[in-house]
Amino acid sequence: MKDEYYSSRGGYLLNKMDRRMTGSHYSESLNYPIHMPDGSILYPGGGCEKKAHWNWRWSQAKLKWGIDEGYVVFRQNDGKWSVYFKQYEKVDNLGNEIVRGTPYLNLLASDSISSARGTREMMELFEDKVFDYPKPIKLISTLLDMVGGDDLVVLDLFSGSATTAHAVMEWNEKNDASRSFIMVQLPEAIKAAAGSHGFVYRTICDIGEERIRRAGESIRRRVEMSENALDLDVEKKSVPDIGFRVLRIDSSGYEDVRKTPESYTQGDLGLDVDTTKAGRTSLDLLFECLPTFQIPYSTPITELDGEVFDGYTVYSVNHGQLIACFDENIPERVIRGMAQLEPKPSYAVVGEDSLLDSAARTNFTEIFRQSADELQGQTQVRIL
Ligand SMILES: C[S@@+](CC[C@H](N)C(=O)[O-])C[C@H]1O[C@@H](n2cnc3c(N)ncnc32)[C@H](O)[C@@H]1O
Repeated sequence: MKDEYYSSRGGYLLNKMDRRMTGSHYSESLNYPIHMPDGSILYPGGGCEKKAHWNWRWSQAKLKWGIDEGYVVFRQNDGKWSVYFKQYEKVDNLGNEIVRGTPYLNLLASDSISSARGTREMMELFEDKVFDYPKPIKLISTLLDMVGGDDLVVLDLFSGSATTAHAVMEWNEKNDASRSFIMVQLPEAIKAAAGSHGFVYRTICDIGEERIRRAGESIRRRVEMSENALDLDVEKKSVPDIGFRVLRIDSSGYEDVRKTPESYTQGDLGLDVDTTKAGRTSLDLLFECLPTFQIPYSTPITELDGEVFDGYTVYSVNHGQLIACFDENIPERVIRGMAQLEPKPSYAVVGEDSLLDSAARTNFTEIFRQSADELQGQTQVRIL
């Protein structure tokens, strides 16, 4: 609320002047009558008679000051009087300037925060109403403004149409920041529909994924247009990172071949059993092993080229921290090529089928052992 002191005191809320007190919190001196504007008197707790346990929150002297300075409000409702004091934004109840410790209230009162606006924002990207009640970007960006940190990770476990991802990318654009996001969503089926530009969506994940793509593109276009603007005074922005990966949770890429010692038969001891599940790609296996090495899923991954790797897919993860190849029967030249990389990888990973027999496995381990040097140490090898 606002009053004539708004410019110096800011807005205010009304707070009741009386309280029911317990035990030793009660003070006899705070149980006094106050004269109402119509001449009647009021005791704390209501009525013109003194009530046990009730107190005014202010002393008589402070009340007088408050009335003179416009801090006290008398209100009549259904014939009953109540007394309130104003809690201002910028001053305390003694008139001293303050900075409120809780700058945000639970209530976000803004015209720009409405579901209708969320729907309009989706329509702009999809030319179609593809999702019911998406949150407006402004709601999430208001929340993003409340926390500090230019590179924090924003997690939304119920991501729906991925408003949060959209808001994070726009926040990065506006603040020249590099916050990242993790969106989690059940692949809830929806009636398959064809959206604009031939995009067919079958699950809520499809909608979220496509939204992130389209939102990123629109941010890129907007920034590039402003870069091309001829106005030299305008500060040029760079396109924020609009890249993202989509991962699906699944069972492990490997068959569970663990056995108790007593269940082993002589035949099992051949051990050259293929444990990789059918239909799993080498990228599936690569992503499955990243947590083992505490490498985040967002890490850069490239495929190595060069004659020595010809015909084989060798991944370099996090600028060569980990190298991996899950192809079958990797020849020695590829393994040597991996071992000779500079800087030396911390980890080298191959699949079980990548090494033909136990001799090849020993050879693999040996090649990396010999490539160790004093400065960079030894690459740890893993056969998965
Ligand atoms: C209301 S939507 C989120 C809307 C989103 N903020 C937006 O702007 O589009 C909530 C989503 O959470 C998912 N969800 C609900 N209950 C869940 C649960 N128990 N586990 C995982 N996901 C759930 C639903 O699939 C639904 O799409």
